[in-house]
Amino acid sequence: MDEFVTLTYRGKEVKLPLVTGSEGEKAIDISRLRTETGLITLDPGYANTGSCLSAITFMDGEKGILRYRGIPVEQLAEKASFKETAYLLINGRLPNRDELTQLSVRLNDHSLVHTDLKAFYQNFPRASHPMGILSSMVNAMKSFYPELDTLEEEINITVTRLLAKVRTMAAMSYKISRGHEIVLPRPDLTYCENFLNMMFDTPVTPYEIKREAVNALRVFWILHADHEQNCSTSSVRMVGSARVNLYTAISTGIAALWGPLHGGANQAVIEMLDNIHNNGGDCTKIIQRAKDKNDPFRLMGFGHRVYKTYDPRAKIMKKMCDNLLAAIQITDPLLDTAKELEEMTLKDPYFIDHNLYPNIDFYSGIILRAIGIPTNMFTVMFAIGRLPGWIAQWKESMDDPNWKISRPRQIYTGHQQYDYVPIHAR
Ligand code: CMC
Repeated sequence: MDEFVTLTYRGKEVKLPLVTGSEGEKAIDISRLRTETGLITLDPGYANTGSCLSAITFMDGEKGILRYRGIPVEQLAEKASFKETAYLLINGRLPNRDELTQLSVRLNDHSLVHTDLKAFYQNFPRASHPMGILSSMVNAMKSFYPELDTLEEEINITVTRLLAKVRTMAAMSYKISRGHEIVLPRPDLTYCENFLNMMFDTPVTPYEIKREAVNALRVFWILHADHEQNCSTSSVRMVGSARVNLYTAISTGIAALWGPLHGGANQAVIEMLDNIHNNGGDCTKIIQRAKDKNDPFRLMGFGHRVYKTYDPRAKIMKKMCDNLLAAIQITDPLLDTAKELEEMTLKDPYFIDHNLYPNIDFYSGIILRAIGIPTNMFTVMFAIGRLPGWIAQWKESMDDPNWKISRPRQIYTGHQQYDYVPIHAR
């Protein structure tokens, strides 16, 4: 039965249809609101606005649920490879054996990067942040990889190139930043193994691929693979809605992810924990600062627009931290600081009342440190993981029969009309 919400404005009743999602969430369809009433809606930060219908990722922020194409993220983290997860997100179902083999072959074929791109890297100032470099480089890819004959062929190859090359480019940027020789991808290694090898292998110290590090990276990337209409994904969709090419849309996503309130939080968390540790390990002061309304400081790695309970990804990350550190027999004092900070906030009325729990970024940095990733590369690691999600969301929006260019409205609050004053009379 069709359901409606009735809105009364200046004595006129308008019936607005309700849309119900496959998990029962409901939305008021306001697409005819302006035509029928002359009104628009105002929703800063889009906290109450659904921007699209999507069949990719389901999350329930109250219950702490996250599923990709219907499959709980916990199952994927336990059993799937990152490649399978990417295929699932982009194609809507898990690949069979042949499809997975084909994907591996294509990723291998496209894993090299045009040598002229290397020159670009070398001309960025040494202190450049890797996220700024990556965003520029991904945009530059459009100029290096020319258009193909059919749109479908173009999209398929572009998707493969992005998945294969962004990983190579990220490792390349690290090697160049250290002044080291670039290590090329190898056909005998898996997606995660290859990345670690390209990052850490050197002619004098061959990289020993550790099973635990590969597994931690696999889980890290799977947990970051999609998160429905977050800031970077919405940017990819919005920029993509102008029918710009996929490389440029993804480079916008990378730029948005860089922000410390979004993907940049994983770097900010480690810097915060380091700071607490270097100042004697007392978490009280930093908690006080986070609660002080006159101080803009926020506890990094805490809070989420959608999750009002423990982030299900953070639960897996926390467990992974303990397992990884034990398996590779290292201790990290920042893990103890993180656990103490979490324990204190879980008992603190401010954090309880505000529903502030650790998010994915709180423990992920400790995992990345343990596998040797430098802090300024953390958000790049998030970006590699999020690529399949951005691609899937971009593709879904391109295939949407009700597609429209994104163009929100506003309520104007500036001057009313007044006349131009010539410069001599001002
Ligand atoms: N520390 C202290 N107070 C906080 C925090 C925090 N981390 N996050 C939110 N609050 C408070 C905020 O001050 C406000 O209080 P009040 O209602 O008394 O004024 C209330 O909680 C609601 O905050 P909000 O800014 O309206 O919430 P939001 O949904 O707009 O922001 C957020 C979500 C993630 C930007 C925010 O929680 C935050 O800044 N967290 C720290 C940065 C971070 O860890 N980001 C990573 C997010 S997860 C990875 C990803 O997907 O990007």
